[in-house]
Amino acid sequence: MEELVMINGAISKPSEAKISVFDRGFLYGDATYEVVRSYSGKLFAVEPHIDRLFLSAERISMKLPYTKKQYLDRMQEFYQKAPFDDAYLRIQISRGEGPITLDPYAPTTVNEVMYLRPLKPHPREYFERGVPVVIAGVLRNSKKAMDPDIKSGNYLNNVLAYKFAAEKKAHEAIMENSEGFITEATTSNVFCVVNGELWTSPDDSDILRGITRNIVITLAQGLDIPLKKKNFTRQDLKNADEAFLTSSTREVMPIASVNGDVLKSSPGPVTRRLQQAYYDYVKNA
Ligand code: PDD
Repeated sequence: MEELVMINGAISKPSEAKISVFDRGFLYGDATYEVVRSYSGKLFAVEPHIDRLFLSAERISMKLPYTKKQYLDRMQEFYQKAPFDDAYLRIQISRGEGPITLDPYAPTTVNEVMYLRPLKPHPREYFERGVPVVIAGVLRNSKKAMDPDIKSGNYLNNVLAYKFAAEKKAHEAIMENSEGFITEATTSNVFCVVNGELWTSPDDSDILRGITRNIVITLAQGLDIPLKKKNFTRQDLKNADEAFLTSSTREVMPIASVNGDVLKSSPGPVTRRLQQAYYDYVKNA
């Protein structure tokens, strides 16, 4: 079997996995989720993902029925059922189902859906030559509206941005905020290298603080690569010596071009060092 689904603890066949039309994840994107991958039979960085799940739930005032340890056990147990080593595991928890109303107190229990499939690796050339990205015409949500640091089920902003990438045959779409600063891409964070300095948007900017981003920041510090968390613009990105994306499934993925403008190097020396450091980190995790 290639895919597995578990709804509120019960395994179902993917084709038969159904959730109520009154589920608030379906109605309003009133849900939180995480994506974890595994390497060689072991879930990677699952604890920080669970920490973020709890942070997201807390920020949308959603009460989770289990402890962090219980979620860890549930995810590990589900993963053990996978007949493959390198897996993509998604957990989504919605506020549950009830009458159609925005009232967040209407539903009584959350709905939990876990989904597991073999991880489809990105083509090697993405890592060896980089990927084209575009700047989306749609802006990233403001922290003061739908905070991007909440990994909620409400991804319409990112879906609209992704449309730009799809239309331009680009790998990812990067979003600016209303001040004209680069925030993040639809499902990844953005770094660039300028005169040997590694730049990424500040922690309190309009981004999701990716788990991979955090690991890369720590690795850069260990390698004595000067790091600046600062706002930067699309022009900075286009003029950068190097740039790359990070996410659980993309790891450290070089950016080859921005809106068709080719970057100076892809992957450049700093990106290559961080790619290697990331692979070493994964091996020792
Ligand atoms: N996306 N920014 C956004 C908006 C994301 O959705 C993600 C992850 C990231 C990178 O986060 P991390 O390093 O923790 O994977 C940044 C996952 C992979 C997804 O939705 O599939």
